[in-house]
Amino acid sequence: MKQRLDTLKAEVMAALNKAASSREITEVKQQYLGRKGPVAALVKELGGLAPELRRAAGESINAVKKALEAEVELRLSDFERREQDALLASETVDVTLPGRRLPLGSLHPVTTVMSEIEDFFGDLGFEVAEGPEIESDYYCFEALNIPKDHPARDMQDTFYVNQDAVLRTHTSPVQIRVMEGRKPPLRIIAPGTVYRRDSDITHTPMFHQVEGFMVDKDITMSHLKGILSSFLKHLFGKKREVRFRPSFFPFTEPSAEVDIQCVLCNGSGCRVCKDTGWLEILGCGMIHPNVFASVEYDSTEVTGFAFGLGIERIAMLKYGIDDLRVFFDNDTKFLRQF
Ligand code: FA5
Ligand code: MG
Repeated sequence: MKQRLDTLKAEVMAALNKAASSREITEVKQQYLGRKGPVAALVKELGGLAPELRRAAGESINAVKKALEAEVELRLSDFERREQDALLASETVDVTLPGRRLPLGSLHPVTTVMSEIEDFFGDLGFEVAEGPEIESDYYCFEALNIPKDHPARDMQDTFYVNQDAVLRTHTSPVQIRVMEGRKPPLRIIAPGTVYRRDSDITHTPMFHQVEGFMVDKDITMSHLKGILSSFLKHLFGKKREVRFRPSFFPFTEPSAEVDIQCVLCNGSGCRVCKDTGWLEILGCGMIHPNVFASVEYDSTEVTGFAFGLGIERIAMLKYGIDDLRVFFDNDTKFLRQF
């Protein structure tokens, strides 16, 4: 037995000496010290020995097994450490490389223009107010001097949630909501989403407006014209032409619409401006006495102006976009430009 153990031990040591990696050490371990290896076979033979020999033989097998296992572990950890060091040495890191940027996205052009408008009027002391997108017939039309049978309703057809509730067609109902709860002087802007039964290159069924109004003693059309003119100069530069054109809204008197010289054709006429050279961006006027009456303001005491501008129309002109519908197509090729 002793001789066989010595031979086996020498054999295992030789195999270990030949092994050149942690993987090869593990193979030697499995081959000799595994459940089907020669050491396990010797242990099985113990059963056939005379009882007085068994114990001594068992002890010597065990001693050799322990010694070999210790040898294996020693070499294994040695190889593993060297292999790890080699791996680290081969993987160099250039700490001067710039980091990878995470894609952040950007603001939608409608959002950008909306905040620019809020900033401009904010500087003039206008406060921001909001109203609901599902609006009652009363606030959207009735209180704005548009009775049920008025032809002005035709131009603002919309989705009727029920007989008394509509998707609001403009931000003007916010005028009523604010004036009902407060007294003049008032300087308010009200940005928001509005809806109409419209769709062509300058109209979408959902779009955005910013309402603005100012109510106080002695507010006149000059205030309206002065503020809007400087706003449009701020937005489009001094060279871009602007015109005030008489118009009609039931809730203002007198009323006007403001057009900007078409930026796509510089006024010579194209499909966007329908060959007129101008693009309408807002409606405005002096608040009608009937509107003041519906909020119990005395129109012999106070006057005011109001305007409602289309954000997409402004964004179109500002960025030279020739079809308003692309704002809502969600095409990332378009959106990534901003
Ligand atoms: C109004 O909505 C009035 N409430 C504006 C107003 C407010 C007048 C206060 C007087 C006092 P109008 O329907 O013209 O007016 O719309 C205003 C602006 O919204 C238009 O000049 C245009 O720029 C924009 N607009 C109208 N319809 C659409 C549409 N379908 N898609 C995109 N923009 C639109
Ligand atoms: Mg109009």
